[in-house]
Amino acid sequence: MYKIALLPGDGIGPEIVPQAVRVLQAVGEKYNREFQFETALIGGAAYDATGHPLPEETLDVCRNADAIILGAVGGPKWDNLEPHLRPERGALLPLRKKLGLYANLRPAVVNPALADASTLKADIVSGLDVMIIRELTGGLYFGEKRREDLPGGGQKVVETLEYTTAEIERVVRLGFEMARKRNKKLSSVDKANVLESSRLWREIVERLAEEYPDVELNHILVDNCAMQLVRNPKQFDVMVTENMFGDILTDLASQLTGSIGMLPSASLGGEVALYEPIHGSAPDIAGKNLANPIATILSAAMMLRISFGLETEAAAIEQAVDRVLQQGYRTGDIMQPGKIKVGTVEMTEEIIKAL
Ligand code: NAI
Ligand code: MG
Repeated sequence: MYKIALLPGDGIGPEIVPQAVRVLQAVGEKYNREFQFETALIGGAAYDATGHPLPEETLDVCRNADAIILGAVGGPKWDNLEPHLRPERGALLPLRKKLGLYANLRPAVVNPALADASTLKADIVSGLDVMIIRELTGGLYFGEKRREDLPGGGQKVVETLEYTTAEIERVVRLGFEMARKRNKKLSSVDKANVLESSRLWREIVERLAEEYPDVELNHILVDNCAMQLVRNPKQFDVMVTENMFGDILTDLASQLTGSIGMLPSASLGGEVALYEPIHGSAPDIAGKNLANPIATILSAAMMLRISFGLETEAAAIEQAVDRVLQQGYRTGDIMQPGKIKVGTVEMTEEIIKAL
């Protein structure tokens, strides 16, 4: 039996997480696996119900689970709360930190059926399969932040970007290991021409590279990397980078695949791993059965593979998604001329049928 904590959160979160659950139940029936689900509050939904976006009880549910599936948090309703009560700063970041989830794996794969769904030319993106590893518990998002009033009027704001050798080393090592398992090519993304943190990052990458002589390493500055991802994304295989660069580059990479609604992720490093789509709560489409559930469903497949070692079951979900896209079913975000437009729920039903 596998115990899975569900944190639907806000916006489209409560629409997409149940779709992953339905797919997991179908997989469970087909392969005779038992999944037990426990739902807990997070984000704005938790704030509304309990006065805090990350209740202690939610952390307990997560710590007692074998894996976690998260929808997304946040929305305009909670934007003006005190920082520690806001869904992202008060719940999402502390959750990742408290669970020690320092490595976020974000595969950007262009599905063959969606090679012409990107705004980029099909021959630039078709066949793309990159793995972006984003450091998740350090850097600018977690460093000291403060604001002060200036005597002459106006304010001064301070954000700090902090990393220790150990924090960089563990995520970079994962990058090398991942490269070794894939195509033996690693791109380390930094801003070493300007940032001291990036200089330390690069020194550590260089040092670890000696242990991985079989991996072809290249350093790339983040601004050039953004350009290269659009110009010629297939030059990359495994990429590793710090928190904020990874956040931005993966939204960019999602557009190579057609939609941010296609990209799953796995957050690893602690005792229990967390799986979530890379997108946010999409308040603009929430509650309308419009959200693409595939990123969340593929996150569940990553969970089966990485946390539970259920390779056959994970591959079955991925193949079902392929099949349904091949058959022409599309949510609005990936809709193309002549295809069959479906909603969140109907897309899931087709995936379950294909299973
Ligand atoms: P977003 O990722 O929620 O949405 C960006 C755009 O992509 C929107 O047009 C949205 O409709 C579309 N989109 C996102 N997911 C989709 C899906 N599954 N199917 C179809 N279309 C989809 O980013 P945005 O708008 O910047 O942020 C909205 C809220 O989400 C904010 O409160 C933000 O703080 C929060 N957020 C939360 C994250 C998390 O919980 N992990 C990550 C990113 C943002
Ligand atoms: Mg993001």
